[in-house]
Amino acid sequence: MFYFKIDRWNPDPNIIARAASILRDGGLAAFPTETVYGLGANGLNPDAVKKIFRAKGRPVDNPLILHLSEPGQARSLAEIDDRAAETIKAFWPGPLTLVLPALPHVPREVTAGLSTVALRMPDHPAALALIDAAQCPVAAPSANRSGRPSPTDAEAVAADLGDRIDILLDAGSVDVGLESTVIDLTGRGVLLLRPGGAPAEKLEKFFGEPLESPGDDARKRSPGTRYRHYAPALPVSIWRPGEEEIPRSIDPSTSGFMGMTPPSAHFARTVLFDSESSYARGMFAGFRHFEAEGLRHIVVEWPRSQGIGLALQDRIWRASN
Ligand code: TXA
Ligand code: MG
Repeated sequence: MFYFKIDRWNPDPNIIARAASILRDGGLAAFPTETVYGLGANGLNPDAVKKIFRAKGRPVDNPLILHLSEPGQARSLAEIDDRAAETIKAFWPGPLTLVLPALPHVPREVTAGLSTVALRMPDHPAALALIDAAQCPVAAPSANRSGRPSPTDAEAVAADLGDRIDILLDAGSVDVGLESTVIDLTGRGVLLLRPGGAPAEKLEKFFGEPLESPGDDARKRSPGTRYRHYAPALPVSIWRPGEEEIPRSIDPSTSGFMGMTPPSAHFARTVLFDSESSYARGMFAGFRHFEAEGLRHIVVEWPRSQGIGLALQDRIWRASN
């Protein structure tokens, strides 16, 4: 594997060109985005896309997001109605993924055989430079082994996938720390398939209507939401401040705590964040640090549901299940 440090704002064009040619030739390139690191392949090359599933150990019925470097590229991949066009104008580049009706040439390896495709334009200069140089939409899930916490820095990518990728671009830690919000715009309403970096409140204000939550039918349509996810190797327990004591079965002296409220028990490691957004930025890395330190259990504080807190709740819930 090639490994390069790059400047997020001003990535070396030679390194970008090298990674882009790997993508064009059907290889795998891990790269930073504003949300989490992605594991990229040429999204129009079915054999390259299959390599993503093999490297991650990802179930093949879980579709991928295509990453674009310009909003206009969406029209060559999906049907864009007025509502979708306005949404793109308002939220791209940024942590919002749109599920739209796919055009027929989008490979079934990307859509997992669905009639829809997920599109996103990341808000990260190095990611945009790479996609632009590759001259193709870049299919990219989070760059972790399937089921593991998403990588928020290059060390986490190397630990999970170092022996399975062709190149890793390291631009340091990400901003958001949780994945993009995924909404489905194929129906009349707006379906929230996955809470994420774009706050639900902001979307509701934009659309002027409440987001619908996926019933069983939509859950079938977004297969990724079915699996246990984001989970470290250690058991994760939820602590609701003020409501419950730390469960008796947990020994704080061999456990780590993460959250915003100082716990009364004395944990082997305590990581406190001063806001929901720093909690979101640091949680997945915290999971991995606690693992590496040989702790036995992780206790995480249940955050409030405002802003990024809704996405934090979703990831904590899945990690603890
Ligand atoms: O922030 C992110 O979105 C990151 C970075 C790398 O861009 N990517 C990411 O990809 O989180 P992934 O594959 O880990 O999650 C994609 C989610 C999954 O829940 C998947 O099921 C859903 O998007 N998805 C993809 N295509 C879909 C489609 N056509 N219909 C419904 N859900 C879809
Ligand atoms: Mg993922």
